[in-house]
Amino acid sequence: MQNVVVSHLGDYSIRRCEREDIPSVIQINMDTLPEHYSDYFYYDILSEFPETFLVTELNGALVGYIMCRIEYGFSQLKRLSLARKGHIVSVAVEQAHRRKGIGTNLILISHSEMAKKSAAECYLEVRVSNHEAIALYERAGYRVTGQVDAYYRDGEGALVMAVKLEK
Ligand SMILES: CC(C)(COP(=O)(O)OP(=O)(O)OC[C@H]1O[C@@H](n2cnc3c(N)ncnc32)[C@H](O)[C@@H]1OP(=O)(O)O)[C@@H](O)C(=O)NCCC(=O)NCCS
Repeated sequence: MQNVVVSHLGDYSIRRCEREDIPSVIQINMDTLPEHYSDYFYYDILSEFPETFLVTELNGALVGYIMCRIEYGFSQLKRLSLARKGHIVSVAVEQAHRRKGIGTNLILISHSEMAKKSAAECYLEVRVSNHEAIALYERAGYRVTGQVDAYYRDGEGALVMAVKLEK
């Protein structure tokens, strides 16, 4: 099957994830994050939300991914309103490829794909101690909209951050 390339960043290409990419995505997740999921979880999100499951590739190897869902529920930005929301479930870039704009590009491209699916905002959870990721999200326009104590299995709390999506 032909890969769907959505953008280029220098020698990196950003394209839609395919089923065959999932083992590499799981490996990146294992290398970079303490939160792991069942294999089924990745395949399930890919089949339901293929437009917002993106990978970054360099010379045939994957170095980053973003995996998102689109949900309907209470807005993170407008009190007591309902909204169609993008949710960044997981985003990661291998250490050797960081600070080159890959994380930002994955997020911004997923935003535009979410907006095409009529999502009005996007939100995510991030560890309170994950200063790199928080800085990235702030640069991408996110603001803190909530905090969940003991959100992670090891007891660490999460910040909930959200951004309005441009149509
Ligand atoms: C968070 C992560 C995805 C960022 O990926 P990236 O490709 O390095 O991001 P970018 O190159 O687009 O960086 C964008 C901005 O993020 C911030 N940032 C990234 N790395 C940073 C660091 N080490 N220290 C401080 N700020 C950092 C900066 O604001 C940076 O902009 P700048 O380079 O112009 O200063 C990456 O660090 C990562 O995979 N971390 C481990 C997994 C993780 O924590 N995922 C998020 C879970 S919620």
